[in-house]
Amino acid sequence: MDDIKATTTTIDPGGYISGSLHVPGDKSISHRYAILAALAEGESELQGYAPGADCDSTLRCLRQLGISLESSTDSPTDQGATITIAGSGLKGFASVNGSLDAGNSGTTMRLMAGALAAHSFTTTVTGDQSLSRRPMQRIVAPLQAMGAQVETHKGCPPLTITGRSLEAIDYTPPMASAQVKSAILLAGLQANGTTWIREPVQTRDHTERALPIFGVNLVREGQAVGIVGGQQLVATSLAIPGDFSSAAFWFVAAAALPGSVIQVSYVGLNPTRTRLLDVLQGIGARVAIEPAETTSPEPYGTVTVSHAELYPIIVNGTDVPALIDELPALAALGLHGQGFRLNGASELRTKESDRIEVLVSGLRHMGAEVDEFPDGFEVYAQDPPSGGIVDAAGDHRMAMAFAIAALGLTGPTVIKNSDVVNVSYPGFFDTLNLLRHR
Ligand code: S3P
Repeated sequence: MDDIKATTTTIDPGGYISGSLHVPGDKSISHRYAILAALAEGESELQGYAPGADCDSTLRCLRQLGISLESSTDSPTDQGATITIAGSGLKGFASVNGSLDAGNSGTTMRLMAGALAAHSFTTTVTGDQSLSRRPMQRIVAPLQAMGAQVETHKGCPPLTITGRSLEAIDYTPPMASAQVKSAILLAGLQANGTTWIREPVQTRDHTERALPIFGVNLVREGQAVGIVGGQQLVATSLAIPGDFSSAAFWFVAAAALPGSVIQVSYVGLNPTRTRLLDVLQGIGARVAIEPAETTSPEPYGTVTVSHAELYPIIVNGTDVPALIDELPALAALGLHGQGFRLNGASELRTKESDRIEVLVSGLRHMGAEVDEFPDGFEVYAQDPPSGGIVDAAGDHRMAMAFAIAALGLTGPTVIKNSDVVNVSYPGFFDTLNLLRHR
């Protein structure tokens, strides 16, 4: 009973949000820098490493693989710890006693599988209940084609990888997935020959931006990216900007609630991640973007979003990869009066939860009129509903989306299992309280 109380958060509606803040370091970038630093020769330093449970999972796995790393919270940034990683060089991981636990983190499991595919021992990677339901065949197929032995339980975790000497492949992934692309790049780095990836639609390019900083040359052929195997990575020092996908919840809340103005500084502005700002501008919100001058591989800057009268939102398939982690936040906007229609997003069903099903069910419990489709849903424009009891279903972005949706209703909303926000945004609800004014 205490546990249930401890993980339930009630959001009362009303008021507006305002303030200036930083958000936690970027989760996608943190995983990649840590794995690349572990495969590099020498000691790397990463500032602003994402504080959530997912990025801890990557560090825990790396430690188990014999990587020596230290974390200092005495960090120059309030966005995460400074992590020092002594790399073991290409194919330098030590075999593990027992199994690796990727927790809730699909990025950890899929990227580690790519990194392990050339290590000549057997490793089993497990995950929590949510991760154990997620599809792994998408990385198994290309890694097997390269020569690795990879086994799953009916296409899902646990994943058992026996590394082999790998051969390069030329691969067109059947879905838009940066995790698949990154797993293949990490395996390709350790393969004989040049591995090519031809993405059907561009996905986040953090791995491609990071590799050259660690001394690895990539080759390009139009939209395709190639990696010549056997290049040694060299340790480096990098700072990680704030996570755009975490900031997205504040941007959406500011756009929705009359009187709101939110400014997030030192937030990542990688163009493969920021489509949400175009969408918010397109529906009428006021958005100001000030990019910082930087030589860092990842652009960043300050974004200010303020409320204005909004139009309905329609999102189609072509925009989905660049919005994939922001769609839950946008769906929340559908409850602030204007309605929201999404199509071409069946990938949402493969995330930490079936995000289409969980959003549809949660928004209905809050009183919204919603239709579900195989590849999306529609929230109909209506007067603000009254709120209700919703379940985050083990998915951090569901808990945050429900919280933002709840702000615009006429009665309170109870979010069960709300502590799952710790996966990417520890302190999310405290920050919400600080930013809210009534
Ligand atoms: C991520 C890629 C996306 C995204 C996930 C993080 C990454 O997943 O939804 O939160 O860090 O590469 P897919 O690769 O499955 O699209």
